[in-house]
Amino acid sequence: MSRSSRSPRRRLAQIAALTALTMAGAACGNSLSDDEAGSDGGLKIGLVVPASGVYEPLGVDMTRGFELYLDQNDGQLGGQDVEVVKADEGEGPDTGVPATTKLASQDQVSALVGIVNSATALGVKDVVTQSKVPLIVANAGADDLADGSPYIWRTSFTNGAVGASLGEEVAQAADGPVYMIAADYAAGKEFVAGFKEAFEAAGGDVAGEAYTPFGTTNDWQPFLSKIQNTDASAVYAFYAGAEAVNFVKQYQSFGLSEDLPLYGPGFLTEGGVLTAQGDAAEGVRTSLHYSNLIDSPENKEFVDAYTEAYDEAPTVYSVQAYDAAAVLDAAIAEADGTDGESVAKALAGVGEIESPRGTWSFDEDHNPDQTYFLREVQAVDGGFGNGVLEPLTD
Ligand code: BEZ
Repeated sequence: MSRSSRSPRRRLAQIAALTALTMAGAACGNSLSDDEAGSDGGLKIGLVVPASGVYEPLGVDMTRGFELYLDQNDGQLGGQDVEVVKADEGEGPDTGVPATTKLASQDQVSALVGIVNSATALGVKDVVTQSKVPLIVANAGADDLADGSPYIWRTSFTNGAVGASLGEEVAQAADGPVYMIAADYAAGKEFVAGFKEAFEAAGGDVAGEAYTPFGTTNDWQPFLSKIQNTDASAVYAFYAGAEAVNFVKQYQSFGLSEDLPLYGPGFLTEGGVLTAQGDAAEGVRTSLHYSNLIDSPENKEFVDAYTEAYDEAPTVYSVQAYDAAAVLDAAIAEADGTDGESVAKALAGVGEIESPRGTWSFDEDHNPDQTYFLREVQAVDGGFGNGVLEPLTD
């Protein structure tokens, strides 16, 4: 897989040092150059992910996935040396929109990669369209974000599709009505709506639903007590990052995990979140387009390279950013120039992506056409992992 014979750790340390310096410059309001070429004559790519807030760990995984791809390709995309300019997305649009605007206008990057939060993604849509710089959304799943616009491409998912992928499975597995609970912002609403539609279409009954204040909820007890007082036989929940850790731990300590099986989009038990949840997450069933336990040679090679570089297994966030780099690599190699418009045009010709998640391609709206898997948290090698039970979609 790696074209570089240098030590992955040493090369990654160099890439991280270069991007850290670039970020420091950006924070001081310094633009490193006046055109799209990087300061070393290469190409500038803007990476905007959370370096603070509830979703900060997701940003770490995305940065690592993106940098691993660069490391494996001699620091180049499409044959051009790459300078990564980083900006902190923070927790929501208040921080994410100005950070993205600066990268697109002041730093004049050729493409943007990142964006974790759906509300932020919706807030930057006009910015990227007006600046004609393509954005490769490497996480945020807002349903209406990608609509075939030449400047918006997504290597992650739509919230509705992840939600819907679990509907029929839960309708068949649950003994009675199901309660739905989620973070109160665009993504939480869409994960629930997508799930509910597929669940009810498959004959499922809803016991109730609740939305918890995003980024400020620390105590889920009042919500868990409300669930206990319904006729729910199972719970479907969307949380990610620090909120997922607290919710799943409190679900267990409140005693609900004994009686009400817990389901949700796979972010509920992904990566460092699962390590922190420990046995509180055992048996939780989720759907997602990736697990680092996918049994394929491509995934094993990726997991080995990532683990060697970072001493940690990759997550779905790492893969989405790794694939964003792969997509840009293919597009820039074919583009007529390195300006945003040329890169955006070339993205239309990228075709199939061979990924650790399996082979996928962009659909007509520029979202991934991909398989979702049913996963279950199981004891693995002295810890816990998301075992892959079966594909839920083609
Ligand atoms: C979102 O806001 O779209 C999102 C955030 C974290 C995980 C998954 C989706």
